[in-house]
Amino acid sequence: MCGIVGYVGDKNAQDFLISGLKRLEYRGYDSAGIVTLADKGDVTLLRAKGKIANLEEKLAKNKRKDSIGVGHTRWATHGEPSEANAHPHRAGDIYLVHNGIIENYKELKGTLKGHEFKSETDTEVLVALINSFYKDGKYSLVDAVVQALKLVKGTYGIAVVSSKKPDEIVVARSGSPLIIGVGNGETLIASDASALVGHTKRAIYLNDGEVALVKKDSIEVKTLNAEPVSAKVEEIETNLSAIQKGGFEHFMLKEIMEQPDSLAETLRGRIDAKNARVHLGGPGLSEAELRKIKHLVIVGCGTAYHAGLLAGYYIEQFTPEITIETVIASEYRYRSAYIPKDSVALIVSQSGETADTLACLREIKKQGIKTIGIVNAIGSTIAREVDGGTYVHVGPEISVASTKAFTSQVIAMVMFGLTIAQAKGVKPGILKPYIDEIDKMPKAIEETLDSLSKKIKEISKKYKDYEHSIYLGRDIAYPTSMEGALKLKEVSYIDANAYAFGELKHGPLALVDDRFFEMVLLPKGALYDKAVSNIQEVLARGGHVIVMTNADNFDLPVENIIKIPTDIEIFVPILMNIISQLFAYYMTVAKGLNVDQPRNLAKSVTVE
Ligand code: F6R
Repeated sequence: MCGIVGYVGDKNAQDFLISGLKRLEYRGYDSAGIVTLADKGDVTLLRAKGKIANLEEKLAKNKRKDSIGVGHTRWATHGEPSEANAHPHRAGDIYLVHNGIIENYKELKGTLKGHEFKSETDTEVLVALINSFYKDGKYSLVDAVVQALKLVKGTYGIAVVSSKKPDEIVVARSGSPLIIGVGNGETLIASDASALVGHTKRAIYLNDGEVALVKKDSIEVKTLNAEPVSAKVEEIETNLSAIQKGGFEHFMLKEIMEQPDSLAETLRGRIDAKNARVHLGGPGLSEAELRKIKHLVIVGCGTAYHAGLLAGYYIEQFTPEITIETVIASEYRYRSAYIPKDSVALIVSQSGETADTLACLREIKKQGIKTIGIVNAIGSTIAREVDGGTYVHVGPEISVASTKAFTSQVIAMVMFGLTIAQAKGVKPGILKPYIDEIDKMPKAIEETLDSLSKKIKEISKKYKDYEHSIYLGRDIAYPTSMEGALKLKEVSYIDANAYAFGELKHGPLALVDDRFFEMVLLPKGALYDKAVSNIQEVLARGGHVIVMTNADNFDLPVENIIKIPTDIEIFVPILMNIISQLFAYYMTVAKGLNVDQPRNLAKSVTVE
């Protein structure tokens, strides 16, 4: 989604703004712009529809040495992607970049008679509103921003400059991240720490309701009610190599291949295979509190939701007398669901900024239910608002399609389930096989990637021209097939839906014909024979079936068998999912599409 950068210091602001915006490209955007200010009040405003390369073309003819400015990548919400709707927006001497949505913009617009609107955006309403306080000189820039924000309903992360004040930037946040990078004689602004990496390691993460006056060597933070805030300077953990492709053609492939290491990071210090124990500090629940848990509500969107579904299947296998409900955040936030008091909610989010997931977190907290975050982005809003949490520590995920986060989210939640089971006194013999396998997973993932990548690439070439597909699985393979289908459709644009295999003859079997291929996830186990019968039903109707399995004896005449060479059994769906990720990746590359930035999608969905 939208991205913000800003710079004030002695260096060339245009250089930082463009390189910062490029770092934020992965979030998804459809136009971009920057504004820089010269000492004498000269302003250079450049905006372009489409990629940052288009903005750079304009920049080539408008090079400046200005050392203050702000920039933006826009993901259209109000008004189509166009130069006129791109940020920065201007009113009088003021220029504004904005992430989020001003919900009462129509009402506010009606009060702003003196401003001639040039765009369809809610953001232009906000800049005109700020200017209505600023233009007569009654308020300083920061106070004009405060006055305007007091009238605003909605979400925002903003950065504002005035051509009259070419040494200061005003930033503020409510519901949309805003980070101030503290440098030596320079201050940097970004909505995502990746834009700051390599420039500074020290940052202030603004909280909701805070506004800051930023100069090259000073940062003053206060609340909208003018109370001063002594902001904490935190360390940015991300390093440069984590946000670069590191020799891979695409971030998606890099992130798939990173999974042996990223999962090892999730497990670090948390798994004691020798003594068959899990040690999770983050949730911060006492043994007594863990013992009391009777219900788990798992909340997420998209891939995070699928991770929650799969983790739920596992946790109920070994945790007695517990009910688990995994819910889609955008639905759950508006339901009238009763949550029993002996529940704990797991809030699952890679970015930690997803608007619907955050809204659920707040609703659930209102009911007095303990919330535990399963989050990747350190210092993100969800991570800060939950009562306790377990970071998955997979490092930045740059490709829009979530891959390594899923694997670690599932395992982190299973470890939380094991922690509950331990507290409830479940016999170590029941938990040991899970802990042993978790411990072996990084190696097993590495072996799967090594042995199967080539084969998946070959198979994908045969199927790339299909327009439809069905993903099928039973039990633990069902949520896994949902995730496989999501991955394929979001990057390759091939229609892909998942069905629980048992549901096939209740409707979806009617779809099977030459336009479809069927991807079957077939783990060994209690339901293996039933799933094999289901495959026969598909074959009898001329299906184009690919089967991935860890069973040795599968011998039906399907088009392709992907045999997973592993002794992992319980968590084999995680390996199958990694194969689905590779399949989606190679299908997309074979089709010549932009695998890291699929059309219409954004990495971090900060609007509803
Ligand atoms: C799919 C994908 C999305 C996200 C979803 C939630 O590949 O990336 O479905 O999983 O938008 O995002 P987070 O986990 O950041 O809350």
